Amino acid sequence: MASAPYSSFLLAALLALVAGVSAINFLSDVEITWGRGKALNSDILQLTLDRASGSGFRSRQEFLFGRFDIRMKLVPGNSAGTVTTFYLSSLGGTHDEIDLEFLGNVSGQPYVLHTNVYARGTGDREQQFYLWFDPRLDFHTYSVLWNPQEIVIYVDGTPIRVFRNNERLGVPYPKSQPMRVYASIWDGDDWATRGGLDKTDWSKAPFIATYRGLTADACAVGSYGCSANRRGWWNQVLDSAGMQKVRWMRERYMIYNYCRDPKRQTARGPPPECAVN
Ligand SMILES: *[C@@H]1O[C@H](CO)[C@@H](O)[C@H](O)[C@H]1NC(C)=O
Repeated sequence: MASAPYSSFLLAALLALVAGVSAINFLSDVEITWGRGKALNSDILQLTLDRASGSGFRSRQEFLFGRFDIRMKLVPGNSAGTVTTFYLSSLGGTHDEIDLEFLGNVSGQPYVLHTNVYARGTGDREQQFYLWFDPRLDFHTYSVLWNPQEIVIYVDGTPIRVFRNNERLGVPYPKSQPMRVYASIWDGDDWATRGGLDKTDWSKAPFIATYRGLTADACAVGSYGCSANRRGWWNQVLDSAGMQKVRWMRERYMIYNYCRDPKRQTARGPPPECAVN
């Protein structure tokens, strides 16, 4: 591809990281990885679940740290059994992943936002929340901030979850494997809604989730001149007001926390980060 004189230059460029707030164009910057997903234009993409298949997309670009925002409108009406996702993930058996999974419900009953963090292949760090609005009716903004210090999940700009880098306590933290941005919709009716009691009503298919305005203020792998260390998100750590907000949201909307799950405790008690977060 590159002629010899340029190859070391190219290698340096590939290893470099860049930053830039940028809109991710659904027509050119993502690929549909499976099923019937369709970009309506550069800004709007719809994913479809029917009896034959779910669907998904991913960014062509890989990122190592950044802030990612997307607006989503979830499956309207009876969405029981469906799972609609927005997540970051690296590849391979010891992959890292930051998950937002929206568990559907029968009409009038609340969606659940299921979150998880995987580091080096290990997850088991679920927290679940109710939302304070009906996510089927309008677009709302869901965000992930991921820097070397912490991962923060935001809903409409309000932080609901923080996962800090607690490597000093021996807790793995995602920090060296580049991740892509992914989204999908699939059938999870064996567990998603009331633990699998409410099944997907296929007479209501196709189920459609709409994604808009995906942006990445992030270090993209393989481009030039990452100026991440000069950007706000790179050094961000939630301050005490931010943490207070997280606690406030937790008190009101959290319905499951792995830190409090007796089945998740080791002989030495809850995972080490639970004591300090
Ligand atoms: C669905 O609604 C039921 C009844 O309100 C509730 O218990 C449950 O948490 C809701 N969400 C899911 C995903 O099961």
